[in-house]
Amino acid sequence: MAGDAPVLGVRGVTKRFGGLEALSEVDFDVHAGEVVGLVGDNGAGKSTLVKILSGVHAPSAGHVEIDGEPRELSSPAVATEAGIATVYQELSLTMQRSVASNFFLGRELVVRHPLGRRLGWLDRREMERQTRQSLSKLLTRVPDVRSACRTLSGGQRQGLAIARAVTWCGRVLILDEPTSALGVEQQREVLDIIRRTRELGIAVLLISHQMQEVVAVCDRVVVLRLGEVVAVLEKQELAVDTLVGYITGSTPARTPAGARRASS
Ligand SMILES: Nc1ncnc2c1ncn2[C@@H]1O[C@H](COP(=O)(O)OP(=O)(O)OP(=O)(O)O)[C@@H](O)[C@H]1O
Ligand SMILES: [Mg+2]
Repeated sequence: MAGDAPVLGVRGVTKRFGGLEALSEVDFDVHAGEVVGLVGDNGAGKSTLVKILSGVHAPSAGHVEIDGEPRELSSPAVATEAGIATVYQELSLTMQRSVASNFFLGRELVVRHPLGRRLGWLDRREMERQTRQSLSKLLTRVPDVRSACRTLSGGQRQGLAIARAVTWCGRVLILDEPTSALGVEQQREVLDIIRRTRELGIAVLLISHQMQEVVAVCDRVVVLRLGEVVAVLEKQELAVDTLVGYITGSTPARTPAGARRASS
């Protein structure tokens, strides 16, 4: 394993649905402690790529590398085990349950005492303590972990979902439109959470239609058009107009593959 290999490497990933090529030889890297944006118009192939990375779809060609090693992400469980966590827009939180119980959903701690262990008593206090600790790494205002999820703001819910994903799978975090349902203040809160996640050394892939947020938070941006990478922009080149140019096609593709296809 190369020491400086990217945490996530997408290598020539192609996906066909019948006659439609939703992704064509997509290549890019995400390193630890880096936020990479993935942008493109509706139908560009963003969600298809997320599904491949989260083990929902198998690629028709190409492969995914984790720490420089090819990994076959044959199911969501395998992707989770490889350290890839995906937070979808429709968050998988149970609104009636408490913050702590959502945080530990499916991973509940049982009390250490032998009788309690036999009876399956949950160690609520310890779960609450650990939830508070994990949330405080990402959120400036940690909600009461005993309160029901439905009492949280949209930004806090997103923060809880991200904190849970980072804590349990922790190498690569994929965020699919994390702020699209949020108000301005809450969007800002989520951007802060993304920055803190990066500081924890996690590789973050951010899918977004909000160009200003992409420019504000990303270290690099991959632009997809009709399933092809048409540009990879470094931080210093990021500007809303530039991104929009590549997304819409008013700026010609600048990757070799994209340019080849455009001229054929
Ligand atoms: N399961 C599927 N079967 C057939 N075609 C599909 C399937 N999933 C996606 N597609 C097609 O693949 C292409 C890419 O879709 P995808 O959902 O990845 O786009 P997207 O970039 O996520 O768009 P949006 O911004 O609207 O979410 C589209 O043409 C879509 O119709
Ligand atoms: Mg999509």
